[in-house]
Amino acid sequence: MKTVFITGGSSGIGFSLAQNYISRGDRVIITGRTEAKLNEAKQKLLQFGDKVIAKLIDVKDEKAMSEYLLEVDNEYTIDILIANAGVSAGVTNIEDFHSTAKEIFDINVYGVFNTVHPLLKKMQERKKGQIVLICSMSAFFGLTSAVFYASSKAAIKSYGEGLRILMSDYNVDVSTVFPGFVESNITRANKFGMPFLIGAEQAASIIIQGLDKKKGYILFPLRMRLLIGFLAHLPFSWREKILKRLPHK
Ligand SMILES: NC(=O)c1ccc[n+]([C@@H]2O[C@H](COP(=O)([O-])OP(=O)(O)OC[C@H]3O[C@@H](n4cnc5c(N)ncnc54)[C@H](OP(=O)(O)O)[C@@H]3O)[C@@H](O)[C@H]2O)c1
Repeated sequence: MKTVFITGGSSGIGFSLAQNYISRGDRVIITGRTEAKLNEAKQKLLQFGDKVIAKLIDVKDEKAMSEYLLEVDNEYTIDILIANAGVSAGVTNIEDFHSTAKEIFDINVYGVFNTVHPLLKKMQERKKGQIVLICSMSAFFGLTSAVFYASSKAAIKSYGEGLRILMSDYNVDVSTVFPGFVESNITRANKFGMPFLIGAEQAASIIIQGLDKKKGYILFPLRMRLLIGFLAHLPFSWREKILKRLPHK
């Protein structure tokens, strides 16, 4: 039995990951910042296994995150740490740029650091552990439709690559996950057609297959991966013309 800690486990991809791990007999700790939603998620997860802990905590709260992660790790030893909590927003009004950038980076970037850093030393010392960063296919390009979301994920892509190499000396695996469009509260807000949209359960099972193989990069679905690969190989001036036509969030 493994102990799996998932930030933002109260809905979407995080919830489906939790459901998968609990069904395998693992102990799962989920976090979220909305109490009613978190409790409801816990009740649903208890139908699949009894080792579920739900903690109301904001990933932006560096001190609370550090204290809680160390407390859980001292009691159970966290085997798999999944930095999943994230938010997205489009912004077109220049006056809103700074506040939007701050909110998104505080959660999507510093929230990831607040999740990972408290346990790095402990994982290094015990030479064991798996760190998972839920990134996004949007990390590969600048997007006018969600400029700060894409740039926050680009930061996590680079962080994940560096951390994997650094931690490989200590037998700690780091995987960065790049989903395309997945049904969740984040995508429910999108008013445009989302190519190759998949369900959160399917996303979770692809992610766990990749994690079981300790892959550094987990990119899905395949058709979105091919599309991103094609765009990445175009000259920037061509890609710019295509990206300019994308709908705004
Ligand atoms: N859905 C997609 O198409 C897609 C594609 C690529 C990447 N992703 C990434 O996948 C991850 C999960 O998103 P999702 O699509 O599953 O969306 P979701 O259903 O909205 O789930 C987000 C989860 O994160 C939690 N959360 C958000 N801000 C938080 C904070 N400050 N502190 C603690 N918890 C917080 C939410 O809890 P509350 O509701 O309580 O805030 C919720 O449990 C995100 O990192 C997202 O960027 C999603």
